[in-house]
Amino acid sequence: MSEAVGEMICEGEFEEFRDPLLKLRGVTPEFAALLKEAGYFTIESIATEVPHFLFQRIGERMGFSLDKAEALIRDARSKLDIRILSARELYEEELRRKTIPTGSKGLDEILGGGIRTQEITEVCGSYACGKTELVYTTAVLAPKALGGDVLILDTEATLSVSRIRQIAKARELDPDEAISPIHLRRVPSSSDLIATLETAHKFIKERNIRYLAIDSFVSPFRREYPGRELLCPRQQKLNYAIGLLIKFARAYDMAVLVTNQVLATPVAQYTTTRPEFLRPPIGGYVMAYGANNRIYLQETDKPNVSIATLIDSSYLPRQSRTIKITERGIEDAG
Ligand SMILES: Nc1ncnc2c1ncn2[C@@H]1O[C@H](COP(=O)(O)OP(=O)(O)O)[C@@H](O)[C@H]1O
Ligand SMILES: [Mg+2]
Repeated sequence: MSEAVGEMICEGEFEEFRDPLLKLRGVTPEFAALLKEAGYFTIESIATEVPHFLFQRIGERMGFSLDKAEALIRDARSKLDIRILSARELYEEELRRKTIPTGSKGLDEILGGGIRTQEITEVCGSYACGKTELVYTTAVLAPKALGGDVLILDTEATLSVSRIRQIAKARELDPDEAISPIHLRRVPSSSDLIATLETAHKFIKERNIRYLAIDSFVSPFRREYPGRELLCPRQQKLNYAIGLLIKFARAYDMAVLVTNQVLATPVAQYTTTRPEFLRPPIGGYVMAYGANNRIYLQETDKPNVSIATLIDSSYLPRQSRTIKITERGIEDAG
């Protein structure tokens, strides 16, 4: 902040400038510290919270209650420009959404331009069909496309920065410059993933994160909650995590990509050529409803060549294109 601006705002206002939570009714610096300890750093993070989750996380400290949680969320919402939009306004907002190129023009085409801001894009498929390569390629291309930084959460410990640098170099970008806006975190478990997302607001805002990629998203939930008995808590946790991603996408005008595995054993009960029926993506209906666009990558007989099909979208038709994995990451095949 420049000194001139510093002189223009008085002491109390300066505190509010530094800590937006102090703009909320009844929030003292002590209470703001409690909120931050629980992972709420911004007005958006409060405005988009569910009252009983907020109450659960703060508890009854400093006379907090469920009613107060509801009042705080209401106040946070009133501080943001949350209102009903006309279809025209919404259309203009849709036109302002940006896309990250995937590296393959064909894949961009079937996605309506690429990985879009304010949406959750899922890419699923069996191993080695290009999911992680898509994360790398889009991470290299996102900073220019969106004008912000990239955060990759890696639950499989397969992430290779050397490979990201190689893709950048093959695309005639400076590898050092290409990796400087990319931030990474190895996430060992589903609870760590949820905790990371819950506390990510501050980092997202400070670093202007415009692209979040999670590789892979559903597998830690599946690994830690095995079997039918644990299906219910697993799906609840997964649903909660998807809810957080939707909030991020909206609140920070961010593009979100999640990769997902598919069932290894074919479940062919009847004749079908649809890959998503033969080897369905894991995560069930919760994942299916959470993603705006779902891309299925299917391996072919040719090494490093996959068929990408948009298997589900709220506004785009089902289409396929062939992609290949090269030194440049994801590219059009042929
Ligand atoms: N430098 C490279 N040049 C060409 N192909 C590569 C390169 N690095 C990795 N690959 C290929 O990418 C494939 C793995 O893709 P990946 O995206 O990691 O799969 P997954 O879908 O399991 O995440 C492998 O078949 C590998 O041969
Ligand atoms: Mg992978």
